[in-house]
Amino acid sequence: MKPIKKAVFPVAGMGTRFLPATKVMPKELFPIVDRPLLQYAVDEALEAGIEQMIFINGRGKGMIEDHFDLAYELERTMGDRGKDSSVLDGTRLTPGNSVFIRQQEPLGLGHAIWCARDIIGDEPFAIFLPDEFMVGSPGCMRQMVDAYDELGGNIVCALEIPIEDTPSYGVINPGYRKGPITEVKGLVEKPAAGTAPSNLILPGRYILQPEVMRILETQEAGAGGEIQLTDAMAQMIGKQPFHGMTFDGRRYDCGSKVGYVEANLAMALAHPDIGDDIRTIAEKLLANS
Ligand code: G1P
Repeated sequence: MKPIKKAVFPVAGMGTRFLPATKVMPKELFPIVDRPLLQYAVDEALEAGIEQMIFINGRGKGMIEDHFDLAYELERTMGDRGKDSSVLDGTRLTPGNSVFIRQQEPLGLGHAIWCARDIIGDEPFAIFLPDEFMVGSPGCMRQMVDAYDELGGNIVCALEIPIEDTPSYGVINPGYRKGPITEVKGLVEKPAAGTAPSNLILPGRYILQPEVMRILETQEAGAGGEIQLTDAMAQMIGKQPFHGMTFDGRRYDCGSKVGYVEANLAMALAHPDIGDDIRTIAEKLLANS
């Protein structure tokens, strides 16, 4: 069984739900307190033993590449002034271990992943949707890699949500359940209201075998007129082991305004330096609202 050493981060989206904030600023670099969303996902990958980060980027989002580069002037100036630059740890990726690919057209998540096919080659790989913010110890992908080491095949993160919210997500048709592991018998992308096979959705973390790239090669457009990763994964079920893993931790859907503000509030309240101040401020605001 080959280990998971590569991760794909689809970051080409236009972030229209957050306009005008996303007019020039990639939503993946929005901060949760003082750390960009995408940095958390990369930290999660590093913790899981992943070495090569593959970013599927789009025009006008070059800031993402800059974020993971050496900020020479900044580090030099901080050093000269005796300031601790360890806050930048993890932002400079190992030379040669990051790849930036342009997705030229917004044809869907499946198409974005397929753009990494030549870099993935013949190895299993991880996918992170960075606007899904996962807080756990160990992190979500570490937990998934541990499950992969036992089960092999394909593992998707699985999350229970209220059934009425399922039309926004990929949904699992579940088989047997054993602790955090669920057999995946089918997958459907954005089912119409009232038709979801369960309330177990895909919250944006995947470990997949490279065969999915061959399927994506000829994948037709699905839900929303886009080439869907979920549709390609569905075709692997029955041919390869396919499991869902419920993650031990908290998930925030930072693709929505409510989820993004909630994540900031939760992380600010838990922050060792500002937590107490934020609690006092929040209590005052609530008392006056
Ligand atoms: C994508 C996936 C969907 C998944 C979701 C998680 O949808 O297609 O299967 O459940 O991310 O956030 P999107 O949010 O891009 O519409």
